[in-house]
Amino acid sequence: MKLLVTGGAGFIGSAVVRQAIGQGHAVVNLDALTYAACLDNVASVADHPDYSFVQADIRDLAALETVFATHCPDAVMHLAAESHVDRSIDGPGAFMETNITGTYNMLQAARAFWEGQGRPDAFRFHHISTDEVFGSLPDDPAVQFTETTAYDPRSPYSASKAASDHLVRAWHETYGLLVVLSNCSNNYGPYHFPEKLVPVIILNALAGKPLPIYGDGSNVRDWLYVEDHADALLTVLTRGAVGRSYNIGGENELSNLALVRKLCAILDEKRPRDQGSYADLITFVTDRPGHDARYAIDPSRIRTELGWRPSVTVDEGLARTVDWYLANEAWWRALQNRDGVGKRLGVTA
Ligand SMILES: NC(=O)c1ccc[n+]([C@@H]2O[C@H](COP(=O)([O-])OP(=O)(O)OC[C@H]3O[C@@H](n4cnc5c(N)ncnc54)[C@H](O)[C@@H]3O)[C@@H](O)[C@H]2O)c1
Repeated sequence: MKLLVTGGAGFIGSAVVRQAIGQGHAVVNLDALTYAACLDNVASVADHPDYSFVQADIRDLAALETVFATHCPDAVMHLAAESHVDRSIDGPGAFMETNITGTYNMLQAARAFWEGQGRPDAFRFHHISTDEVFGSLPDDPAVQFTETTAYDPRSPYSASKAASDHLVRAWHETYGLLVVLSNCSNNYGPYHFPEKLVPVIILNALAGKPLPIYGDGSNVRDWLYVEDHADALLTVLTRGAVGRSYNIGGENELSNLALVRKLCAILDEKRPRDQGSYADLITFVTDRPGHDARYAIDPSRIRTELGWRPSVTVDEGLARTVDWYLANEAWWRALQNRDGVGKRLGVTA
């Protein structure tokens, strides 16, 4: 298939681009190249004859119409978004414009293109979303997010993603657009932008800086290795039922404190400090306003209907991630000068 991937210069989008090319698809990577983008993430496929890049902003409908007319994709994988919850607290406007209006523009451009092509049955619009739209769970292992859990977003980021999910479903019900949706838990892995928890911990540890943990570190997330997420997304795109959504999780629930302790133990083994453990650097800082207590995915639907499961445990995935950051210092050093990186954001509410 020829895939139009939006946000393909970001963390998850670039993993999708690399895997899609590896699976024999053609890819048009559409990205505005915001502060979160890095074209080095797709350097390994940049010279592939089936890969092309278009710098365009999903807030610009006319630009999207040109991209559809020029490239005639068989399917869309829509990942472009403002993605950092802390930034959404300080500046929610960009999240509304990109995540809501941008998704609206993508739907309108895709719909016009698909109708112009005679509404081909094989066309798909895959909207990539987050488990954060479901809100916060109690500390009870029996309760997890399913595809029918009521939406209850609590941050500007998750509210904007929830709104975009609603638009995608509405374009399916109203216009018949052939959509699939997925809602995924927290990702980690190679090429993770150095403002998110896992890279912040690895890079601060290597620099001998404090390892900041919001609140008491008890917030629980279900951690998924990014390459597994990309594999799941290509599975949902190619085999998911039209109009259906799929929750994607790592089957790895961990508190933030437990996750950081695991990273410290891996670093202690791979790059020992002169004295003591990296865990000695753990520092508790002011919590994020509205910090959701627990996210957990019930992965039954994607497992039973599509036969998909994550391929790595969190211990394997974190060890691979640490190895990657140790081997790719030039990549992360170049990003540490970007606007806001290394600063505490999202405490102004
Ligand atoms: N990171 C996670 O743990 C996670 C979990 C579940 C779902 N998601 C979703 O997956 C998608 C990708 O997340 P990510 O972590 O890779 O994000 P990211 O911030 O690393 O990358 C986002 C990409 O989108 C691009 N972009 C932003 N605004 C744009 C615009 N207006 N026009 C065109 N391109 C634009 C950026 O340049 C960047 O390359 C998002 O939709 C996010 O909501 C992320």
